[in-house]
Amino acid sequence: MKRVITFGTFDVFHIGHVNILKRARSLGTELIVGVSSDALNYSKKERYPIYCQEDRVEIISSLKFVDHVFIEESLELKLDYIKKYNADLLVMGNDWEGRFDWVKNECEVLYLPRTPSISTTEIIEIVRRAQ
Ligand code: CTP
Repeated sequence: MKRVITFGTFDVFHIGHVNILKRARSLGTELIVGVSSDALNYSKKERYPIYCQEDRVEIISSLKFVDHVFIEESLELKLDYIKKYNADLLVMGNDWEGRFDWVKNECEVLYLPRTPSISTTEIIEIVRRAQ
């Protein structure tokens, strides 16, 4: 039994999200996903997500390679979440490289390469420009 945990906003769900979640799941036997709350997203990115946290949780929960979803209220609580869910491995995209090495005493940490040429921010900008 190997529990993998990952975190993200997963707003305007796209193929980069699918890829990282699938890869994270393939590294263990169970995948737990912390979905950033609307307030946490505002503090990270200075804008509210397009999809509210309840809808983002619903979307991620409906994926066949995701086993459990919860709302992440604060970046500083990473270690508490890791302990609470008994995670063995923390997976993050490499845009976060090095940022969560401080939990390494509690669990393994792996940064996976991002899917090139796609992000929520880019999608929002493309749609905006098209108007
Ligand atoms: N991710 C990825 N490849 C992408 C986009 C995101 O692997 N092309 C990963 C991130 O590294 C993170 C997770 O998906 O581990 C959730 O990222 P999130 O910030 O929600 O998505 P972004 O598209 O990066 O959103 P934004 O543009 O708002 O930063």
